[in-house]
Amino acid sequence: MTAVLLAVVLAALLAVLHFVWPFLAKRGGAYSTSSVAAARWAFQVVGVRGKRVVDLGCGYGRVLALAKSMGAASVAGVEIDPIRWLICTARCRCRVALGDMFKFDVSNADVVYIFQWPSVNARLAEKLRRELRPGAYVVSYMWEVPGLALVAHNPALRVYIYKRPEEPRQELSH
Ligand SMILES: C[S@@+](CC[C@H](N)C(=O)[O-])C[C@H]1O[C@@H](n2cnc3c(N)ncnc32)[C@H](O)[C@@H]1O
Repeated sequence: MTAVLLAVVLAALLAVLHFVWPFLAKRGGAYSTSSVAAARWAFQVVGVRGKRVVDLGCGYGRVLALAKSMGAASVAGVEIDPIRWLICTARCRCRVALGDMFKFDVSNADVVYIFQWPSVNARLAEKLRRELRPGAYVVSYMWEVPGLALVAHNPALRVYIYKRPEEPRQELSH
């Protein structure tokens, strides 16, 4: 009986650790899943059809699967947890890197999706400002991203949409 109880407690502990270790290790947010309604609303606003979508910290692939089903031209993700990475790869059948989102190049993305933590978003903001191509969108579920240009916000669904401004057109000199 004691052995069974111990095994149950250990399994529960491992399950909790599996979700929260990236946060405890200060690598990013703990695992939680986006609301499909929020992601769908954001993808409709940015017009995800035909666009290249990247999810930084893609979890089990819920958001990437949704983007694919809504007609994204390509979907890709990066995930630091090997179990979530494996499941996301099998589920989405797309490029999913196992590793650190801070090292994942987003310069080709049309839409970058994030659901992290406020302090993590502040760190990601620097990377996004550096790498995003003009006209690219950032969708953040739950928390704001400081220093990016907000173009839409749905308070009920807790989702924020930012856009890197287009480059000003170069005037031809004669
Ligand atoms: C809140 S979950 C979001 C999952 C998914 N994007 C969604 O919206 O449903 C955050 C995910 O980011 C992952 N993560 C945290 N830090 C990371 C890092 N430095 N690099 C890659 N993934 C990371 C976690 O393992 C977790 O799966």
